[in-house]
Amino acid sequence: MVGSISFHNIRKIFPAQDEQHSDVEALSQISATINPGEFISLVGPSGSGKTTLLRILAGLETATSGTVTIDDHEIEKPSRKVGFVFQEATLYPWLTVYENIALGLRLNKEKERLPEVNDYIELVGLKGFEKAYPHNLSGGMQQRVNIARALINNPDVLLLDEPFGALDAFTRSKMQNDLIDIWQKRHITMVMVTHDVEEAVFLSNRIFAMTPRPAIIKDIIPVDLKRPRLRDAPEFIGIKEKVLHTLNF
Ligand SMILES: Nc1ncnc2c1ncn2[C@@H]1O[C@H](COP(=O)(O)OP(=O)(O)OP(=O)(O)O)[C@@H](O)[C@H]1O
Ligand SMILES: [Mg+2]
Repeated sequence: MVGSISFHNIRKIFPAQDEQHSDVEALSQISATINPGEFISLVGPSGSGKTTLLRILAGLETATSGTVTIDDHEIEKPSRKVGFVFQEATLYPWLTVYENIALGLRLNKEKERLPEVNDYIELVGLKGFEKAYPHNLSGGMQQRVNIARALINNPDVLLLDEPFGALDAFTRSKMQNDLIDIWQKRHITMVMVTHDVEEAVFLSNRIFAMTPRPAIIKDIIPVDLKRPRLRDAPEFIGIKEKVLHTLNF
């Protein structure tokens, strides 16, 4: 199986903008291995470097030191093997749902694969909305478009940065169920940043709990629960408490 991620001694220092400021050490010696097909959540305080770590895994940012490998290939720049879903809306308002999703392909000069766009529209539950424009979609639907666009190049790894952070609780839980559905159908490795510990327990095989900046991985909490998971089961609540306890240090 493909989609294994390994990062070793990742350190990230953002240099000071000017003399009044000092360098910012965002990540300090972070190492971990993620298995093919695993679902990992990154949780940690605001500003602890979760987005930075995700961007380094995607090749969107370079680490000050350390290495990232995906299936034994060192990541130094963005790759089609790695899809990324950003927290904020990243759709082009003047393009339809279909065109926004197809854009991922067009940028890669693969016009011949355009019919596949419809398969991805169906996968994320947007059938019938092909011709709609982003301003006519709810927040949840816009994130569905973002997920489809990230998946269209058939990546082995999907990285998601708080994709459901702006959604109401009801939409959020629907999106969580649908994301697990996609994860199970596509056998893809997913790494997701979230502030929501319940979301992390619901989705993940393992949860990486980060410390405040400069961040290290404080603990890795396994979630050995059958799916579909019941949020009010005592085992579920027990793991949630363990994660919260770890985050409170
Ligand atoms: N491009 C940059 N230049 C300078 N400093 C940066 C840059 N990007 C991030 N930082 C700093 O690095 C630290 C980690 O930021 P990051 O965005 O990774 O945190 P985060 O854990 O994702 O936070 P949040 O939960 O609020 O999204 C912060 O102190 C931030 O100010
Ligand atoms: Mg962030």
